[in-house]
Amino acid sequence: MKKFKIGGVLESSVLAQGCMRQCKVSLEEADRVIHTALDCGITFFDHADVYGFGKSEEVFGKVLNLRSDIRSKILVQSKCTLIRDDFQTLTNDQTKEHILSSCEASLKRLGTDYLDVYMLHAPDTLVEPEEVAEAFDLLHAQGKVRYFGVSNHRPLQIELLHKYLNQRLIIDQLQFSVAHTDLVDASMTMRLRPAANIDRTGGDVLTYTRIHDMTIQAWSPFQFGFYGGVFMGNEGYPKLNAAVNRMAEEKGVSPSAIAIAWILRHPARIQPLIGTTNAARLKDICTATEVEMSREEWYELYRMSLADEEKDDMTSSVHHDPKAQMPTKQN
Ligand SMILES: NC(=O)c1ccc[n+]([C@@H]2O[C@H](COP(=O)([O-])OP(=O)(O)OC[C@H]3O[C@@H](n4cnc5c(N)ncnc54)[C@H](OP(=O)(O)O)[C@@H]3O)[C@@H](O)[C@H]2O)c1
Repeated sequence: MKKFKIGGVLESSVLAQGCMRQCKVSLEEADRVIHTALDCGITFFDHADVYGFGKSEEVFGKVLNLRSDIRSKILVQSKCTLIRDDFQTLTNDQTKEHILSSCEASLKRLGTDYLDVYMLHAPDTLVEPEEVAEAFDLLHAQGKVRYFGVSNHRPLQIELLHKYLNQRLIIDQLQFSVAHTDLVDASMTMRLRPAANIDRTGGDVLTYTRIHDMTIQAWSPFQFGFYGGVFMGNEGYPKLNAAVNRMAEEKGVSPSAIAIAWILRHPARIQPLIGTTNAARLKDICTATEVEMSREEWYELYRMSLADEEKDDMTSSVHHDPKAQMPTKQN
C-alpha cells in the first residue's frame, strides 16, 4: 500500500483502520480483520477511550498481545475527553487531570506503553489551554505519546490550542465522505451548494489544515448524515449511486473502492479511516488505493451527491427562482 507522511512527519499507510466497531465483534473476528489490514499494508489504527466504553481498545490490546512482534510495525492512535453518561449524552473534559488519567487507561487497555498519536476527541468550550499544554508536555516527556492531534476541531479552536502548546497538532479528524461533504463545501466560495450551507465565517478547516501541514483523517467515509447509514445502495442517493456504480464498472473495482478513491483523490492527502469489521470487505476497499480518478470524475461525484441531497429543496421556490440566490440590497 502507498505511504505518506502524516502532518509531514509520521510515515503511514494512506488508509487507516478505524477500530470503533471492534467492540461489537468476537476476538477471533477482530483478530481476522486486524491481520487482514496488516496483510493489505495498513499500518495505522485509530481508537478512542469511548468506543464500546473501552472494549474496542481492550480487544485490540488482546490481539496485540497474541503477536508481540506487531506493535513496533504499526502506529496506534487514541483519543480522550469525550464522556458518555448513562443517558448516552456526550460532554467533554479537556482538563489536565482527565487527559492524563484517560491516557493511562487507554495504554493499559491497549497493552502498549506508548501511543503514536493522542488526540482531543472534540472541543470543550470550558477548555483551559494552559492545562492541555501541561498534560501534553508531561505525556511527551514521559515517552507515553509521540505526537498529538485533535478531532472535530475548527481552525480557531486549533489556533487557541497552538497558542499554548509546545507540540504541533499534526491531525484533525473530521467526518467526511462523498455523501457528507461539509468539509469541501466550506472551502468553496462559489455556489455549488445553497449559499446558506457555505460557512463564510472562517471555518474552512480544509484550507487551514493544508496551510499548516496538518493531515485530515476522514471518519465514517461511507456514511451520510450523522450515523445515517451507508450511502451505497441507499435510495436517498440515486444519482450518486448511479455515478459511483458506473465508475466502479468502468474501472473494474467495487463501489466501496470508488467511495474511498474519491477521498484519496483530494490533493489535501486526506486519510480515510476504514471502519468495516468484515475482513473480505476490507480487502476489497483497499483496492481504492490503485484507482485513478480524474478531476472531472471527482467533480461529477460531488455534484451528484449535492443533487441527491438538494432533491427536496429543488421543489421550493428558492431554487425555482435563480435570482433568489443573488445578494440583494435587502439581504
Ligand atoms: N472522531 C470522531 O468523532 C469519530 C466518529 C466516528 C468514527 N470515528 C472513526 O472513524 C472510523 C470509521 O467510522 P465508521 O465505522 O462509521 O466508518 P465506515 O467505514 O463509513 O462504516 C463502517 C460501517 O459500515 C458498514 N458497511 C455496510 N456496507 C458497507 C460497505 N459496502 N462498505 C463499507 N462499510 C459498509 C460496516 O459494516 P461491516 O462491519 O459489517 O462491514 C460498518 O458497520 C471509526 O472506526 C473511528 O475510528 C471517529
